[in-house]
Amino acid sequence: MPDTKAPTSLTARFGAPRHVAIIMDGNGRWAAARGLPRSEGHRRGVEALRRTVRAAGELGIGILTIFSFSSENWLRPRAEVRELMVLLRRFIRNDLAELHKNDVRVRIIGERDSLDPEIRHLLEEAEALTGGNRGLTLVVAFNYGGRQEIARAAQRIAEEVARGRRAPEAVTAELIANYLDAPDLPDPDLVIRTSGEQRLSNFLLWQAAYSEFVFLPIYWPDFDGAALEHAIAEYRRRERRFGGLIARTGS
Ligand code: IPE
Ligand code: IPE
Ligand code: MG
Repeated sequence: MPDTKAPTSLTARFGAPRHVAIIMDGNGRWAAARGLPRSEGHRRGVEALRRTVRAAGELGIGILTIFSFSSENWLRPRAEVRELMVLLRRFIRNDLAELHKNDVRVRIIGERDSLDPEIRHLLEEAEALTGGNRGLTLVVAFNYGGRQEIARAAQRIAEEVARGRRAPEAVTAELIANYLDAPDLPDPDLVIRTSGEQRLSNFLLWQAAYSEFVFLPIYWPDFDGAALEHAIAEYRRRERRFGGLIARTGS
């Protein structure tokens, strides 16, 4: 852990978040406010995502995790789910080359086995192509639910215990963390949610245990680099204590 004794004003400039996670919410309401179909909100949401990835790279953020489709979003009308799948396919097909050129490393978290094979293949292709990149790590949470992720980890650990390869008392928080979808990545320092809703909606339940939360009253299609900077400025004013008594600004 870094030295934490310096006062906030001194540490603040070191306090840029290493890992930012975003719940991109409010596409539908953005469209409804303009008398447009929800699909138009989703389309504009992809543009906001492009801007955000660019801004995150410019701001020197190491890891950007985006919530793009939740395990529960299958509950939406079939036509909307279909549109969201089309947009994901299009995003990967159209933007992958550009992301790769900009040294972005794409990672995917979420449940893959039940996905349409074509989509699964695209996701794997994005990871394989960009696996060696050293710039921004873009983690796409797709068909993702925090409870489901923890349950998958628990199942794999339970199998090992059942086979006698691990003792029950070896099942610690550290072990469980090692069985999550991206165990090598640090926890998010900052979780941003747009649209004014103030809930996690099953996003990164385990990893966000000590994250700072910033809820913005704007809809996702209006998000841009300035909004990201605003959220980071708010994050830098926070004091992180991790259960101890020494305040730390930033990560
Ligand atoms: C976020 O916008 C996009 C996804 C969940 C895929 P919404 O579609 O949830 O928009 P609202 O919340 O209904 O306005
Ligand atoms: C969370 O937003 C999921 C994504 C942003 C992908 P939702 O719009 O699905 O969340 P709820 O239903 O309002 O909680
Ligand atoms: Mg929503």
